[in-house]
Amino acid sequence: MLKVFITRKIPQPGIDLLEKHFTVIVNPHDRPLTRKELLAGTADADGVLCLLTDTIDKEVFNAAVKSRGFANYAVGYDNLDVQEATSRKIPLSNTPGVLTDATAEMAWALLFAAARRVVESDRVMRSGAWHGWGPLQFIGGDVTGRTLGVVGAGRIGTAFALKSKGFSMRVLYTDSRRNDVLEKSIGAVKTDFETLVRESDFISIHCPLLTETTHLFHSKIFTLMKKTACLINTARGPIVKEADLVKALKNGEIAGAGIDVYENEPAADPGLHECRNLVMTPHTASATNSSRTGMAVLAARNLIAMMRGERPENCINPEIYT
Ligand code: DGY
Repeated sequence: MLKVFITRKIPQPGIDLLEKHFTVIVNPHDRPLTRKELLAGTADADGVLCLLTDTIDKEVFNAAVKSRGFANYAVGYDNLDVQEATSRKIPLSNTPGVLTDATAEMAWALLFAAARRVVESDRVMRSGAWHGWGPLQFIGGDVTGRTLGVVGAGRIGTAFALKSKGFSMRVLYTDSRRNDVLEKSIGAVKTDFETLVRESDFISIHCPLLTETTHLFHSKIFTLMKKTACLINTARGPIVKEADLVKALKNGEIAGAGIDVYENEPAADPGLHECRNLVMTPHTASATNSSRTGMAVLAARNLIAMMRGERPENCINPEIYT
């Protein structure tokens, strides 16, 4: 029986599906594999289901000599060396669609938490330091009627922006392509990046991590943002230069931020911990039952197709089939 290797335990329905067809080996530890363990685990696997915490590069492809493909348990795939895999005709897949709403909802949760200082207020309540209602306490920013800037209007950016309808917001977006759905349904306007940065009250990042989006948000950009604005990041950590975000938050260049992803996960710049106007979550934007189970089943389906020599439904490098 062919053997597949899963680099960390995923929701059971994905494992069950793979077990119907293959011998399945799952990382027994509740932690990411060390590099050595990853290389050893993939070495005799006929297929691999990997995570965003695994760097799948030339060294892994050299080790995984038998592997018929790598199914990433994530929609983002900056952890995969796509060019190298393509040159070797190794198929790769991701899990789009199933986590769109969960991620968009988390961006909204962070937006409201940052705007209305929810976490900061919670800390004060728990510390016993609240001594009664006061007219000047915890004044935050309005959301209704304000300008929302969406950086990257793909699936998640679009879902996030559409949910602003109930708050009658003016929506600006950046993307390489025009987004008819956003323009027709909520009157969103495609702008250049600098206009979006200058005019938005809330900016939410939904673009992929690419060379050109690495450190897209850095000190100069923070100085262009409104002092009352909040930045939300549920995409990838390195899109924001963390040290510059710390400075912007501490110096009052922006009002607040809500971030789910970090530049060097699992580490976060120690300065971030000191920012009272920052809400942080541990890369959990897709962490709902339906979304994580959907990712597991989709990744398993993709891997089954690759094992059969068929093109997976979410192939990242379809050019290998031409
Ligand atoms: C992804 O899928 O890329 C998220 O970061 C994790 O769900």
